Amino acid sequence: MTSTPPTRARSFDAAAALYSANRPGYPGELFDAVEELAGRGLRGARVADVGAGTGIATGLLRARGAEVLAVEPGDGMAAEFRRSNPGIPLVRGDGDRLPLVTAGFDFLTYAQAWHWTDPARSVPEARRVLRPGGALALWWNDMDPAVPWIAEQDERIRDLFDAGGLTYRALPAELDLTVREIRWSRRIPLDVHLANHASHSAFLMLGPAGTREFLDAERARLTALFPDGTVEERYVVTLAVALV
Ligand SMILES: C[S@@+](CC[C@H](N)C(=O)[O-])C[C@H]1O[C@@H](n2cnc3c(N)ncnc32)[C@H](O)[C@@H]1O
Repeated sequence: MTSTPPTRARSFDAAAALYSANRPGYPGELFDAVEELAGRGLRGARVADVGAGTGIATGLLRARGAEVLAVEPGDGMAAEFRRSNPGIPLVRGDGDRLPLVTAGFDFLTYAQAWHWTDPARSVPEARRVLRPGGALALWWNDMDPAVPWIAEQDERIRDLFDAGGLTYRALPAELDLTVREIRWSRRIPLDVHLANHASHSAFLMLGPAGTREFLDAERARLTALFPDGTVEERYVVTLAVALV
């Protein structure tokens, strides 16, 4: 988004280790859907994963057999990426000015990162770096609001930030995107669930005191709900794929 203050897009850099340790991965069904909608497999494909962060999606793309290159603008995220993925190449840059050759890639992926770009720039850049028939794949992993405790927690988060702390996402209307939803879940210790929230940009911008106050109250509520200390986070991944 053009209106995103740079400090927010860069807020992850100070929290890269927290991010890497507590954010969820992505299910295999997501990558199956990416292949189906693109009409080709990831094995052997040339993939640029933009806004790669600490490499959560990049590593999974590599595990599917892709020849993947990461693109990441943030210092802290790039350093954490290099620590955890020493065998995967990374270049510094962002989606609005991709440091990539023209027509060099079969896939361009953005895992929870497209909303930090300016589509007036990132759409033409995607068209430039993809080979004809290549696929742009955008996805976001959100906790499933159909689960009552998650819907209630979402409401408290919306109240805390008065909607202003939440990121705005729009799918680029100029692309012919096909959208799929993929549901999955993970079972994790309550502390990981809380730290996952703390790694989101809204809380990183709020700062440690406000974040601690909110998450302490969540801990008390969720301990009553999950007395054995294990939380089931249920997710909906929204995937959008366009061929160029
Ligand atoms: C929520 S994280 C997603 C990281 C990773 N893709 C994942 O799945 O965990 C968003 C990432 O986008 C990066 N970012 C910020 N502005 C960007 C831009 N204009 N273009 C590409 N990436 C950007 C941030 O530095 C951060 O690493």
